[in-house]
Amino acid sequence: MKEAEKWPYPIQGYPSYDEMIKDQARKPIGERIDYALIVTPNNVHFDPAMKCLKAGIPVFCEKPLTVTLQQADRLVKEVRERKIPFGVAHTYLGHWTSRLSRHIVRSGLIGDVRWVDSYYLQGWLAGRTEDMGVMQAEWRVDPKRAGASCCGGDIGTHAFMQMRYVTGLEVTKLQANLATFVEGRALDDHFTVYCMLSNGGRALIRASQISIGHKNDLGIEINGTKGTLVWRQEEPECLTIHLPGQPDRVYWRGEVKANDGFLKSLPKELMAEPTIPSGHPEAFHDAFARLHRCFEEDVRAYNEGKPWNDDGSRYANVEDGRIGIAFVTQAVASSKRGGAWVPMK
Ligand SMILES: NC(=O)c1ccc[n+]([C@@H]2O[C@H](COP(=O)([O-])OP(=O)(O)OC[C@H]3O[C@@H](n4cnc5c(N)ncnc54)[C@H](O)[C@@H]3O)[C@@H](O)[C@H]2O)c1
Repeated sequence: MKEAEKWPYPIQGYPSYDEMIKDQARKPIGERIDYALIVTPNNVHFDPAMKCLKAGIPVFCEKPLTVTLQQADRLVKEVRERKIPFGVAHTYLGHWTSRLSRHIVRSGLIGDVRWVDSYYLQGWLAGRTEDMGVMQAEWRVDPKRAGASCCGGDIGTHAFMQMRYVTGLEVTKLQANLATFVEGRALDDHFTVYCMLSNGGRALIRASQISIGHKNDLGIEINGTKGTLVWRQEEPECLTIHLPGQPDRVYWRGEVKANDGFLKSLPKELMAEPTIPSGHPEAFHDAFARLHRCFEEDVRAYNEGKPWNDDGSRYANVEDGRIGIAFVTQAVASSKRGGAWVPMK
């Protein structure tokens, strides 16, 4: 309620999400909220998401989707039975260059994928940040609020999703080694997973919160049989293609043309995606905005009783969220068994 009073224009505040959902559910479409954005700690995703779904309210939920695989399964079932738009906030899929990477890799331009190194490195939990009054650190290291993994759930899921989104490949089995470098923590602050992929290729999905100097260093390198693609979210305006015996190609958003000797045709939707001119940098907020723009199209279709397409090509869907939880669950299980191979569930 106090937050609502601070806004520069009038908004309706509620003492709790329960009261908000109950009140909004009574209103007709057009007068109620279009969708609920769930941006609370991980243990407060499932309950509001489920209540919104039962009230017919679309949901855009933060990652990791839930704290247990059982909860994630229940959300998948509810979304599919009730046919309600549901998105998961894997921000980095919203960069235009992530979409271009997906096109390049999935259309075979760098050949068959042999090896993927997908990573998310941070340094902000290298010391006991949770003892310094930093709310964001306090709940992330608490198993009750974060779930079974701190680093894996928080940022390993992003690295994992980036790999799946760009390559279209699934992890079939994995071997994990989770570490807790900072004394006294109950959960991991370093997360390393070696994966077998559905095409026979392999991947390293790694995340760290103790890598001092790294801020939000999410990136991906994909080695194919014909070439390599490299992309980093801290420089999200371009991606690099390495081809044997050729100068490197750096593709900048806004400066990409079909049939240039490497690229062939380019998807119409990708080229029609609203952007600002190249040289005016797009970044994190623009990536979020792109996901929301796509999701809002689906919410409008839902409100008008029309079909929509949540196949995961424009934003992560509820199944993607569930696979992220399965990945972290199995990584924790493998690590507890000394890095044993475990299948994906
Ligand atoms: N997609 C991304 O790029 C991205 C980035 C950061 C965080 N996240 C995710 O967003 C979520 C929130 O993370 P954060 O860093 O913003 O956390 P935060 O600690 O900054 O904010 C959490 C907010 O939730 C509120 N809250 C806690 N319990 C509540 C309850 N029961 N009812 C209502 N409100 C409650 C807190 O008051 C606080 O305002 C997490 O799931 C995190 O993984 C995602």
